[in-house]
Amino acid sequence: MKRVDDFRLRFGKQELVPIIVGGMGVDISTAELALEAARLGGIGHISDAMVQAVSDRRFDTKFVSAKLKQYKANVASSDKSSVHFNLAALEEATRNHVGRAMQAKRGEGMIFINVMEKLTMNAPRETLRMRLSAALDAGIDGITLSAGLHLGSFALIEDHPRFRDAKLGIIVSSQRALALFLRKNAKLKRLPDFIVVEGPLAGGHLGFGLDWAQYDLRVIVAEIQQYLKTEQLDIPVIPAGGIFTGGDAAWFLEHGAAAVQVATRFTVARECGLPDKVKQEYFKASEDEIEVNTISPTGYPMRMLKGSPGIGAGIRPNCEAYGYLLDATGNCAYIESYNREVARHPKAKKISVKDKTCLCTHMRNYDIWTCGHYAYRLKDTTRRAPDGSYQLLSAEHIFRDYQFSTGNQIALPD
Ligand SMILES: Cc1cc2nc3c(=O)[nH]c(=O)nc-3n(C[C@H](O)[C@H](O)[C@H](O)COP(=O)(O)O)c2cc1C
Repeated sequence: MKRVDDFRLRFGKQELVPIIVGGMGVDISTAELALEAARLGGIGHISDAMVQAVSDRRFDTKFVSAKLKQYKANVASSDKSSVHFNLAALEEATRNHVGRAMQAKRGEGMIFINVMEKLTMNAPRETLRMRLSAALDAGIDGITLSAGLHLGSFALIEDHPRFRDAKLGIIVSSQRALALFLRKNAKLKRLPDFIVVEGPLAGGHLGFGLDWAQYDLRVIVAEIQQYLKTEQLDIPVIPAGGIFTGGDAAWFLEHGAAAVQVATRFTVARECGLPDKVKQEYFKASEDEIEVNTISPTGYPMRMLKGSPGIGAGIRPNCEAYGYLLDATGNCAYIESYNREVARHPKAKKISVKDKTCLCTHMRNYDIWTCGHYAYRLKDTTRRAPDGSYQLLSAEHIFRDYQFSTGNQIALPD
């Protein structure tokens, strides 16, 4: 029986263990987690979601309070069009976050950054260009473009000196989206270095509608492999979403995948950014406590634990401090929902907003517990203490379990 360690991911002459820990914002896939994946010879992701808040928390910078101070007069207004990011601050925060991770990197693996297009930041092109170029400047090994079609993203950095040497990849959920991306980018003569194919069982935002259960990662991967073959394109294909055991991963590698991207198993690693209390919620979750809903203002369905405190909360929008989801005209679907509820209950001290959530604030505070479909199996990956709590795992333990176990076996910690 084959195992993951029988395979290698090849980028030119470089060989890696074909395990990629996927990006998990906001700072759930921490630098510590990514560093472990790289040390063990695979690829780890950090994420640039809410990078200014992440820099403040980790490096004692004051980006969030400075932005809030600048726009304080606007807090009560529902028109957020004037609330803009300072590009120099965005650059500095990105350099802090990426630079420190890259300085700490040891071993043969790589560190990539997950960059979501849906973080439109009230100036989509300018902010995205800055995020991408600052990450390249700070030495990131590669960039994974996600949550959005990213049709123009490569062009934003085509003049960057590292445009052809850094590894640039995209996440797609269909052959159609991939074909569109390749067509739009043909004139740049720069193919993606890898394609993550994310299926319907993944965590975070989904590239599917509420009919996600009708799709099958294996089928989508096969369609994309066939398409690439027909087009005579040799680009590593990396399935993601619901790959829970080493055996699951080996199956894809035996069927032509170059590597796998995994995330949910690592949410209960000590190195993962979620608070320990929240990690216990992930362990405890049963299958019927996990749902795909439409409360994300991005418009994409998102999978999460039903007990997430951010579901139904009715806090005032925090765009002056954060504002990562403001679109090109300064709107966010949460603001509309919030205003509607305030108008309905003018005298209420506290309101509840059910259809959308203030994703920036709640992700920043670890109050939206997004997870993959198989999060309910996490309890089977560890031991339980007499007090009922679950033992946290090391990232190394989980990584090596993917690398060396066979079939549906999962190694328990010592
Ligand atoms: C807690 C969590 C947060 C995530 N956040 C992001 C994100 O910010 N950007 C992104 O592209 N994917 C995100 N994902 C998706 C993962 O990177 C990955 O592709 C997917 O979850 C793999 O499936 P698995 O979790 O079943 O292993 C997230 C997944 C989880 C579990």
